[in-house]
Amino acid sequence: MYRTHSCGELRLADAGKTVKLSGWVQVARDFGAMTFLDLRDRYGITQLVFSMEENAELCERARKLGREFVIGIEGTVRERSNKNPNRATGDVEVVVNTLQILNASKVPPFTIEDETDGGDDLRMRYRYLDIRRAPVQQNLIFRSKLALEVRKYLGEQNFVEVETPFLIKSTPEGARDFVVPSRMNPGQFYALPQSPQTFKQILMVAGMDRYFQIVKCFRDEDLRADRQPEFTQIDCEMAFVDREAILNTFEGLTKHLFKHTLGLEFADFPRMSYDDAMRLYGSDKPDLRFGMPIVELNDLAKDKGFVVFDSAELVAGICVSGRAESTTRKDIDELTDWVKRPQIGAKGLVYVRYNSDGSLKSSVDKFFDESQLKAWAAKMDAQPGDLLLILAGEDDEKTRKQTGELRLEMGRRLGLMTPGVFKPLWVLDFPLLEWDDDTARFYAMHHPFTSPKPEDVAKMASNDRQVLKDLRADAYDLVINGVEIGGGSIRIFDRDLQMKNFELLGFTHEEAEAQFGFLLGAFEFGAPPHGGIAFGFDRLCAVMNGQNSIRDFIAFPKNNQGRDMMIDAPSPIADAQMKELFLESTAE
Ligand code: AMO
Repeated sequence: MYRTHSCGELRLADAGKTVKLSGWVQVARDFGAMTFLDLRDRYGITQLVFSMEENAELCERARKLGREFVIGIEGTVRERSNKNPNRATGDVEVVVNTLQILNASKVPPFTIEDETDGGDDLRMRYRYLDIRRAPVQQNLIFRSKLALEVRKYLGEQNFVEVETPFLIKSTPEGARDFVVPSRMNPGQFYALPQSPQTFKQILMVAGMDRYFQIVKCFRDEDLRADRQPEFTQIDCEMAFVDREAILNTFEGLTKHLFKHTLGLEFADFPRMSYDDAMRLYGSDKPDLRFGMPIVELNDLAKDKGFVVFDSAELVAGICVSGRAESTTRKDIDELTDWVKRPQIGAKGLVYVRYNSDGSLKSSVDKFFDESQLKAWAAKMDAQPGDLLLILAGEDDEKTRKQTGELRLEMGRRLGLMTPGVFKPLWVLDFPLLEWDDDTARFYAMHHPFTSPKPEDVAKMASNDRQVLKDLRADAYDLVINGVEIGGGSIRIFDRDLQMKNFELLGFTHEEAEAQFGFLLGAFEFGAPPHGGIAFGFDRLCAVMNGQNSIRDFIAFPKNNQGRDMMIDAPSPIADAQMKELFLESTAE
């Protein structure tokens, strides 16, 4: 009734056909004798023509149509004299015979075009208009295709999709829980899952063998471009597997997804230990689209009378290829300010220009002669023409992270993060525990169900903090272009070992039983060895499309304050509802 074709479908071969189209008015152009109108739907845009000479009344009506009016037309396809090569339907236009206005529209608050003039909040408030824009639509279509490919691959590998509950008890994944009061259980609360972690492990005890779920997870944490309070995971678990089997399965999934959505094929993913990632890139999620690894200079730079270096635990730098002469004094000053920003926190920046003529000039010439600088250059594999950027700091780990940030910034400034290039890798052997000075206790680096590496199990009995800090977990992350796409681990499946791990994390036996008795209990009924991983589905979508923000891959995302601008949530609830939930009103 409404259409014989979509607005993206008609081609020259259709010329002469009578067709019906329906869609939204993108724009109308009135040339007196003729009115041209672009009609848009999800599939594309088709030009409609109204002629004063042929049908004045119809033409008059067309002129009155505003942007985003919904119309249905019938007309005849004809070849365009003035073709538009940028549009799939650009060879033809439809000469309209009948026009039906299906619905009027107010003037939209921003332009519904690929490049819009709408700010973030406005776009979120009128998300239905934003989603009419082709780039957002393409993102959602990509997401849908990716989900279908995930199901196809995992289905073929014998994985079973099982839904787990959303109203659960808190799972400690390191963020705060969103909680839901229970009307039927006064004073008690459900928590929304930060992930289905414990349920998928229970499913392994239950003999499901291979589980997956494309599932919403909820975390009450500070928002960033790559974080939303509700986001989606491709959550997976396998029984009777070792790390190798898991890495192979999910490397296979990643390759499948890239091949069947972007047509890209990869060689086997490189693997890097957490220690190497931190040492060489100052990050557990290195962007390998470019080199510029961190080089430690302690042995060459310390104890030479320069107090900044002498008092540092680490002096380290990066070699920026070919930039000795093209980097101006102003660039250096700007970079120095950049590393001193509180977000980075470095005290200053030392540079060495290794000029093309072989001479060396540095910001620390007072303390180091040319032969010393040359030794640094040699250690950093620098060639004449290269620029060395060096940081020093009192804390080894912090300074490495700062140098890693500087490396990324140079990568950004020099355009080395080439769009369309993808560098996946596995980061392995994370620490099991992380010490927190403020609360003076250990936290699980991944989560409390992660197994230590077999050779480290015995060391869990130690009371020595350093020994505990050095414990390695059988945990792994999939990283692509500097983004943590997925993380997982081999799990503890022995009750006593799990209890020991809870102890290291500061739980008393009673607390562990109260929170995780169901899992510990399940471990007493024949838990198989198992392990798994979860991919951040929104992040994967964004990275595969070369974008930083996951928001545009989520149909209805939250803004930076965690608000849904369209439905205006969160919002107060009525007093009666509060009472029913045994909550006290905070209203004045
Ligand atoms: P983890 O906490 O590492 O592991 O989460 C897995 C992946 O989910 C993505 N992710 C997020 N994406 C968007 N917004 C967020 N707030 C957010 N938080 C995490 C990341 C991350 O790599 N249960 C374990 C998995 C397991 O051990 O199997 C877990 O949830 O891409």
